[in-house]
Amino acid sequence: MLRGKHIVLGVTGGIAAYKSCYLLRELQREGATVRVVMTDAAARFVTPLTFSALSGQEVYTDLWTANQSTGSNIGTQHIDLANWADALLIAPASANTIAKLTVGLSDNLLTIVTLATRRPVILAPTMDADMYLNEITQQNLVTLRARGYAVIPAGEGEHASGLKGPGRLPEIDVIIRFVAGVLDKTFLDLTAKKILVTAGPTYESIDPVRFIGNRSSGKMGFAIAQAAALRGAEVTLIAGPVQLETPRNVKRIDVESAEQMQKAVSAEAKKADAVFMAAAVADFTPQTPSRAKIKKDVRSKNLDLHLTATPDILGTLGGKKNGTVLVGFALETDNELTHAKEKLKSKNLDLIVLNSLADEGAGFGVDTNVVTIIERNGHAKKLKKMAKFDVANEILNRVKNLFQHRDE
Ligand code: C5P
Repeated sequence: MLRGKHIVLGVTGGIAAYKSCYLLRELQREGATVRVVMTDAAARFVTPLTFSALSGQEVYTDLWTANQSTGSNIGTQHIDLANWADALLIAPASANTIAKLTVGLSDNLLTIVTLATRRPVILAPTMDADMYLNEITQQNLVTLRARGYAVIPAGEGEHASGLKGPGRLPEIDVIIRFVAGVLDKTFLDLTAKKILVTAGPTYESIDPVRFIGNRSSGKMGFAIAQAAALRGAEVTLIAGPVQLETPRNVKRIDVESAEQMQKAVSAEAKKADAVFMAAAVADFTPQTPSRAKIKKDVRSKNLDLHLTATPDILGTLGGKKNGTVLVGFALETDNELTHAKEKLKSKNLDLIVLNSLADEGAGFGVDTNVVTIIERNGHAKKLKKMAKFDVANEILNRVKNLFQHRDE
């Protein structure tokens, strides 16, 4: 799978560093030539000698010492390595190295090479489950993906600490397939698909100053847009008022109210192969927003606002569906599954993603989610707590299957 490829294997400090010895051998077995760069912390877990013996090459550990075997001098060895590589694979990638890469710190040979290379950078984040699921790590990974780094979803299971959850080094064959996919671009499995995503809340004006809104952060919708774009899709993202960076290669349209979102969606949905309505659209809007700021009336203690229903954007699309895959999101507080299934039917959807408010690490603002994906035939699968980006890919995998059935 990797015949003739040059891989720089970055090893960072973590107990999983010993598995990189097996990874190195498999990369070589697949035909790659591998040069290993280790951080100081990695060299405390496994000695450079082990990697050197396995790779048949001197191992790079020190920024300040020239490497004899490649003849590079101290000043240029990072550039030489960065240019030599067809891909840079960091496995395990520690929380520390991930954080450094996010801010462009380059205080050791590995981070310098990563900053210097123009070739694909592939990370296998590996750490204790709590560190992996920590908002800081998740946000760093969102940022790195937005900049085009390929991030392999972490493996699940028991950690050396005894903790259970995501953050293990993925199986070696998973890593190898991922690297091969990045190099021959087979991970671009949604190329030529047009995908429309809505995200965030809507703001419904009461007067020029005040509005009715909700707590949606937009993160789930942005994760879907980002994941789809990384898989090669042509993505349009209609965003309500949110504080999020536009993912790379995504066309963004900003809107504020449900009415504006409706207009934008109906213009864009015609071209879409799939629509993901992840926005938390307001169900009601003030009937006649005041032109001037409503004054506080000292005599009356109450203010009556008359609200009217907004158009059901997704329901309208479902009513005149012609082959577009429609994905809805539901957030329920009681009888969750029954309500979500009813919504899937009444809006004529292909999938509905049920968000839980009850589970810790799910819902508004956070970078993780706990969802149940329900299909048209009623089949429901509750996924474990995972990064919103990983949830996005799970949803996209199912939509990809639906495309295949549709095209058959
Ligand atoms: O009925 P409910 O609002 O819970 O449905 C949620 C789903 O419907 C979400 O996918 C949401 O984006 C979509 N929706 C819509 N138009 C509305 C309200 C919700 O498309 N006015």
